[in-house]
Amino acid sequence: MYTRKAPTGPRIIASQYVASAVRPDQYPEGDTVEIAFLGRSNVGKSSLINSLCNHRGLALVSGQPGKTKTINFFSITSKEDISEEEERRFEWFLVDLPGYGYAKTDKSNRNIWSSFIADYILNSERLMLLCLLVDARHPELPIDQEAFNWLREAGVPLQIVVTKTDKLNSKEKQQSRRLIKDQFPTEEPPIFYSSLKHTGRELLLNRINQVILGDEE
Ligand code: GTP
Ligand code: MG
Repeated sequence: MYTRKAPTGPRIIASQYVASAVRPDQYPEGDTVEIAFLGRSNVGKSSLINSLCNHRGLALVSGQPGKTKTINFFSITSKEDISEEEERRFEWFLVDLPGYGYAKTDKSNRNIWSSFIADYILNSERLMLLCLLVDARHPELPIDQEAFNWLREAGVPLQIVVTKTDKLNSKEKQQSRRLIKDQFPTEEPPIFYSSLKHTGRELLLNRINQVILGDEE
């Protein structure tokens, strides 16, 4: 029987851990494009990755900060219906970067993050977009501002993603939206996300899709 299927936005249909790296020779080979995720330790990065991929346990979630200590690569397959008969699939790497601002990392020098993270961000030719995660309840932390300024200076294409938005009421959300816009000015507006409720998922998947495929249509 023929069933009518309305075109839908992009979604992730497969996600798998591939490799961990602290040196370039440990990065996966090939020319698969990359979308990276970075944020203060405990900002909710692993939870967001699991929500985005709809894959519980893909990235480790913990109550203790500083869980992710290596650059972790996940291979992702996205799928998008472009008409009733046609769909397209594409492959990319999701790159989970260690959280910054955790006391035990790199205290000897005054960098926000270890040099192997800076090396990756500055030298990866396949990095198309870096999602910088900011906690909805703490939009004004100096360390996030420092990270943002560093990334801007380096010319990294940025998307601000605001995490844990379910913890705010609507008035607080409005306030947070204003503060974030002032603190982190970017071309594209910030995306408000809740990993608990999966709000913001469609927006973020659309943004990633747009960055990877460009304006093909
Ligand atoms: P590290 O890797 O340890 O630096 O932390 P992380 O940034 O990966 O954070 P993680 O996803 O492990 O989440 C940290 C804590 O915040 C956990 O207790 C999560 O359950 C909680 N959390 C993360 N995202 C959300 C969210 O959207 N809403 C709520 N209410 N809690 C969240
Ligand atoms: Mg984590």
